Formats: sequence, C-alpha cells, structure tokens
Amino acid sequence: MNITINDKHLYDINAELTVVFALNTDELLHEGVLSELGFKATQDETCYISEFKTLYVGVEANEHDLFRSAAATAIRTLSAFNYKSLKLSQYDVNDEKGIFTALIEGFILGSYKFEAYKSKKSESTLTDILFSSRTLEDEASDISVIEETLIKAQVLAIATNYTRELVNTTPEDLFPLKLAHIAQDLSKENDLDCKVLNEIELKNENMNAMLDVGRASRHESQLIHLSYKPKEPRAVVSLIGKGLTYDSGGLSLKPAASMVSMKLDKSGGCAVLGIMKAVSELKLPVEVHGIIGAVENMIGGDAYKPDDVLTAKNGKTIEVRNTDAEGRLVLADCLCYAQEKVEADYIFDFATLTGACLVALGNYTTGLMGHSTKLKHSMSRSANNTGELVGALPFNRYLKKQLKSEIADISNVSNKPYGGAITAAQFLDSFITDENKQKWMHFDIAGPAYVESAWGYNPYGGSGAGVRMTVDWLSNIK
Ligand code: BES
Ligand code: ZN
Ligand code: ZN
Repeated sequence: MNITINDKHLYDINAELTVVFALNTDELLHEGVLSELGFKATQDETCYISEFKTLYVGVEANEHDLFRSAAATAIRTLSAFNYKSLKLSQYDVNDEKGIFTALIEGFILGSYKFEAYKSKKSESTLTDILFSSRTLEDEASDISVIEETLIKAQVLAIATNYTRELVNTTPEDLFPLKLAHIAQDLSKENDLDCKVLNEIELKNENMNAMLDVGRASRHESQLIHLSYKPKEPRAVVSLIGKGLTYDSGGLSLKPAASMVSMKLDKSGGCAVLGIMKAVSELKLPVEVHGIIGAVENMIGGDAYKPDDVLTAKNGKTIEVRNTDAEGRLVLADCLCYAQEKVEADYIFDFATLTGACLVALGNYTTGLMGHSTKLKHSMSRSANNTGELVGALPFNRYLKKQLKSEIADISNVSNKPYGGAITAAQFLDSFITDENKQKWMHFDIAGPAYVESAWGYNPYGGSGAGVRMTVDWLSNIK
C-alpha cells in the first residue's frame, strides 16, 4: 500500500474514493442523505454513498486512538470494494493530537491479514492512499513535518505487523532455531549485529535453567542477541523477550483448552524483534540490545520435572514446583546474561508470563511492574501516545515471601493462589542486581499479545503488543 501526501486541496486530488471521518457533532449529519440513511457517526459506524463516491466512518470523539480504529474499519470495509485509490484530509497534524499518525497506523494495522495457511489468499485492489496536506479547515501545513510523521507511522505499523506475523506462525514452522534465523535475516537487512548461542554455548554460559526448560523438545534452545549501535548513543537499553515457541506446560501439562493458542508464548521475543526493526529503520540515537530466550516447553522422558532444583546462570537455585511456570526460568537466565554482557541504562523484559495478569487487568492491558515509578509513568505516557493500554501492578514484601522454598533459594511458583502476575515479576526481580533495580521494568503482555476476538484495529491472532509504546518511549529519550 502506497501512502502519499499531496499539497493540493482534497477536492483537487485525483482518486476514486473519498473517506470522511465524521464526528457525531458534525453538521453534515443533520441534513441531507446521511441523516436520511440514519447515519449517527457512532464509533466505527460506516456509511457508503455510491453517488458521492464517499465512505463515511464514525468517530466518537476527537481522540487519536478512535481515529486509528476508524481508519482500520475504513480499510476493512473497502476490502469488499474494488477501488484502487482513496483520498482524505490529513485532519490535524498541527495540534499534536496524533491523529494523522493514528490514521496511517490504522490503515496499515487494519489491512493486516494472516493468510500464510490459506490456500486462497484474499485479493486487495486498493493500492494508493492519498492524503491532502491541508487540514479540514483548509490550512496548509508544513509538508516536511508531515512527511516525517508519515515515515515514522509507517515504520511503526509495519513493525507491528511483522511481529504479528511471527506470533501467528505455527510452532511447527517457527521453532527456536527458526526464530534465530529470522533474527539473522533482520540483522542483515537492517545492519544489526546478531549473535546466536546454541545449546553447547548456553551450557558454557551456565544458562542451565533455560536449558532445562527446553530439554524435552526436539528443537534446540537458542539465545538470540541482536544489537543496534549508533554512534554517540543517548542511552543504552536492553530488551529481553520470552520466546517460548510453544508452551505445552511441560509435565505440569496444560488442560487441552488452555494449550490451544500457546504458540503465542513467543510474543515477547517477537515484540523485541519488531522493536529492533523499527528502531534501526528510524535510526534512533539509542543503543538497543534485543535478547531473546527461544525455547520450546514440551513433555517426554527427558523433561524437567516438578521437584527438580535448577541452577540459574548467576548460581541461584530454583525449586521447580510447576513446569508450566517456565517463562520466568528462561527469563531468569536471560536477565542474568543481559546484565552481565551489557551495561545498560534501562532493562525491559517482555513476556506472556501469567494468566493471572489477564485476571488482574483483562485482555487488553499490559501489566507494568518494577521499582521505578518514574519509568512506569513515562511508559504509560508512551502507551497513551500510541493507543496501547498499560496498568501498573504494585510489588509488596508479603507477596514476595510466597516464593520461599524449603529446599532451594527460591521456588518458581507462589504458594498462594492470588497475585500471580506480581509474584512472577518478583521472581524475576530476584535475578536483578541491586544496581539495576531502578533500571528494570517488566511487561506482562499475556492479555493483549494475542487476540481471541477482534477489537479496535487488532484482528484475530497476534497483536504486536509492546512494539509501538516501546519505540515511542525510545524515541523520547533525551
Ligand atoms: N505462557 C503462560 C502464561 C499465559 C497464559 C499466557 C494464558 C497467555 C495466556 C505461562 O507460561 C504459564 O503457563 N503460567 C502459569 C503460571 C502458573 C503455573 C504459576 C499460569 O499463568 O497459569
Ligand atoms: Zn507455562
Ligand atoms: Zn509460558
């Protein structure tokens, strides 16, 4: 899809169709054909008037994320039509509401379809989207500013779709070594450094917790370390991703219904890849390391067991009481690796870590956890800027005690049923050194990473959660 900006008035731009986003306060609703057709401009309501070659889409309020959703609705609606080009106003780039960005993202995110396994792919005729650089009030805007906005929004939305595609790929096609190859391909295309550690190398690094989780799989575990190193970076950031290409639960086997969709358990790792892609394409002045623990959690005679005691990279011992709490074991080693190899100013991890986070915050919201209130605030701002939803879950010293083990340094699960998203994060916290406590933040994306029933601009499947807010946050580092 080709998105361009045109200096002309909307009326003078040559395209087959016009898209108009209508607020329910708009005068055009009260008279004429729209009113006759009963169009009320409720959010995502559409009205196509063939005579005017115009598609109207309702927007409930002047908020950027509602425009993102409406743009996705427009594209989805038009996929049933045969138009090749559409035009629209850029709405308001100058008042910094982010609506222009939202429209571009909405078009690209809304046009995403996962069809890798369909024998017949859908055909889309729409190839061109033309924005008039003039606002609705017909004011001219600075074309170089909006060109820049256009590029940034495209990079972000395309990176999100890239993450979605990886998440959606089946475990038979996307196993740890394959994920490592995908990272190597990205590194070649985007000029990143890429180091991959196989099981022998993981053993040399004493990453035994991660190795034990992957032991029963026929696929070798891999640690992927991508780095983007611009000259004179403003900060160094490590991003660690849970890359469970499949989570059967292991011997603490998941019930049949909960196992379906557990290909999603690589979403944290795939988000890290999407972020690395966007950061390098935007050439952000920040050094970014992406570290992914790619592992498959399976059953078999060689599987790690409840009752085992594992030794993590930093020498800490972990009593396994549930093999389905495997992500934190993989991340424990990856966090140790990240802290040992990279002297970072910020350390973020992304993981579909707990079902409890879904219980706490619902399907749509990422759980943010960590010691730095400032970091949580600034990330909430970036989430607001990009239409992602986050909620902070607070640590406390009582919950931490629930991870005590009688026989090892720590247990991999809490001994009480509630607060599971927090206890999982506090388990990770015990692998963060004292110097790094304030630099670290954990993103539990178990809710939003995978969409079971479509919402907003997210179709069924991987959503790319974490990508847009983190890239926004990284681009705001001063
Ligand atoms: N990958 C799951 C968490 C998950 C659940 C993600 C649902 C997305 C949707 C994780 O490895 C897991 O199984 N966690 C257990 C932890 C429990 C055994 C303490 C869970 O949440 O039930
Ligand atoms: Zn699990
Ligand atoms: Zn898992």
